[in-house]
Amino acid sequence: MGVVRYSHDETGSTAVRYREGTGLSERKEEQGAVCSPLKERVPIIQVKNLYKIYKVGETKVYALGGVDFTMYRGEFCAIVGPSGSGKSTLLNMLAGLEKPSRGEIVIDKIHIEKMKENELVAFRRARVGFIFQSYNLLKTLNAVENVALPLSFRGMPRRKRNEIARKYLKLVGLEKQMNHMANAMSGGQQQRVGIARALAVNPRIIFADEPTGNLDSKTTMEILKLMRRIVREQNQTLVMVTHDNHLASYADRQFHIVDGKIFKIEECRHDEEEEIK
Ligand SMILES: Nc1ncnc2c1ncn2[C@@H]1O[C@H](COP(=O)(O)OP(=O)(O)OP(=O)(O)O)[C@@H](O)[C@H]1O
Ligand SMILES: [Mg+2]
Repeated sequence: MGVVRYSHDETGSTAVRYREGTGLSERKEEQGAVCSPLKERVPIIQVKNLYKIYKVGETKVYALGGVDFTMYRGEFCAIVGPSGSGKSTLLNMLAGLEKPSRGEIVIDKIHIEKMKENELVAFRRARVGFIFQSYNLLKTLNAVENVALPLSFRGMPRRKRNEIARKYLKLVGLEKQMNHMANAMSGGQQQRVGIARALAVNPRIIFADEPTGNLDSKTTMEILKLMRRIVREQNQTLVMVTHDNHLASYADRQFHIVDGKIFKIEECRHDEEEEIK
């Protein structure tokens, strides 16, 4: 008998099992051994020495002042910090919505800081989903039409995209509201539509900027729980911006940002079966 420990080799693909007995120590390599939480540490977002400098008249505003980090596939990451700390600037840059002044952003092995605008548009359509604070739904379209909209940009036929839209609306618990107009839904329901719309394109990464900012605390928890469950099930990476430390604590890791700098990256341990109360 002895304590069995697991770790990963540098590639993250082979688990290595260690058996430690009293006075004895045996090392045994096993392909595919269970190795959570280090399992599948595949980098998906890599940021190196990232700067965003705005010029306001004669003054320079360092919205981001040298940021470095890696986010992994399947992770739920929260970017947390006070108002004006640079959260939205960072998120917009990771999503290819704004160009950095300096530094590197590698998404899924592709350098996006070198891309031209038309390449960035294609990148966003293919790999990224967005969830906004203000939902950004088209009010005169129903739930299915709103979720199906991003798929129409891919030239998908209506029947197929409506089928996919219905599948994701079901996933977010809106089976009964599929044909409701967006402006006839509650805030929580509209944000569920927003989540379904982000997921419908099956993105590797989902970016969410204060996604629960307009919701009451009970609905906030429901939405947070829903997002966390879905991205875990689909092994997607969720990057959520919030000014709320409590909400951020439900992520796998918290990236604390102040004055355009990440000053702490905190790992949060959650039980697999943990329920958000
Ligand atoms: N277009 C711009 N021109 C000049 N300064 C800007 C611009 N956009 C952002 N900034 C500045 O960059 C800093 C970071 O702004 P950012 O919007 O990223 O903050 P935030 O953390 O998202 O804040 P909030 O929680 O209020 O949304 C702020 O000082 C802001 O004034
Ligand atoms: Mg912001």
